[in-house]
Amino acid sequence: MMKKPYITLKFAQTLDGRIAAKDGSSKWISSFPTRKFTHLLRAKSDAVLIGAKTVLTDNPSLTTRLAKGKNPIRIVIDGRLRLPLNAKIAKVTKKRRTIVITTERAPRRKIKLLKQKGIEFVILPASKGGNIDLKKIIRILYTKGIRRILVEGGSRIITSFLKAGLVDRIIIVISPKILGSGIESVGDLSIRNINRALKLRFKRAKRIGEDIICVACVKK
Ligand SMILES: NC(=O)c1ccc[n+]([C@@H]2O[C@H](COP(=O)([O-])OP(=O)(O)OC[C@H]3O[C@@H](n4cnc5c(N)ncnc54)[C@H](OP(=O)(O)O)[C@@H]3O)[C@@H](O)[C@H]2O)c1
Repeated sequence: MMKKPYITLKFAQTLDGRIAAKDGSSKWISSFPTRKFTHLLRAKSDAVLIGAKTVLTDNPSLTTRLAKGKNPIRIVIDGRLRLPLNAKIAKVTKKRRTIVITTERAPRRKIKLLKQKGIEFVILPASKGGNIDLKKIIRILYTKGIRRILVEGGSRIITSFLKAGLVDRIIIVISPKILGSGIESVGDLSIRNINRALKLRFKRAKRIGEDIICVACVKK
């Protein structure tokens, strides 16, 4: 079996399984005490990983400012290098590192500018559909000494990680809100029958503020 970091998928969703509204807004699905809990989870991780679209929509800092503890390395999967030069995660210090995983589709000049700001790069081939092979990414991150990754979304990243069978644990924050249509937490996994559903084992559930936190492990 391939050596890989322990991967926790974490997201906040409405009662009807949406991680964002139709317009992409998701701040804030969860309540403030839960956000503190998320920062604590980050502090226990070597790295936090998100997709390019989440950077563009939310412009997160991905720090641990609401909890005590070190800042994890921030990782963005961004095949076309859409990361804005002034994004919060583009502000790098020794204690706030950022790694961008991109492809040869990324403009060279932009790579140069971001490298000058201290951003590290991993350049990989894009697959036919444009996506980057997550298994390759995970293997490279492992060689960089990263052992615990918190994957924070969005929907396409969550779906790809589940589809690739790379997830060890899922932490779902369920907030008592309903959106109807919006961005689904998990997209198509090519599962066509209930018997083929991805099976998890509940570890615990607790209430924080208005939210319920469910922790479940993927059965291997
Ligand atoms: N509630 C929550 O917990 C939470 C957390 C995070 C985000 N969100 C919300 O989620 C929404 C964004 O989600 P999203 O699904 O649109 O985008 P996303 O998952 O953030 O990013 C997807 C992008 O990542 C790149 N990518 C490269 N390789 C990939 C791979 N193997 N698998 C998947 N993506 C890959 C693709 O862009 P390129 O083709 O350019 O490489 C793709 O468009 C926002 O509205 C945000 O607010 C909610």
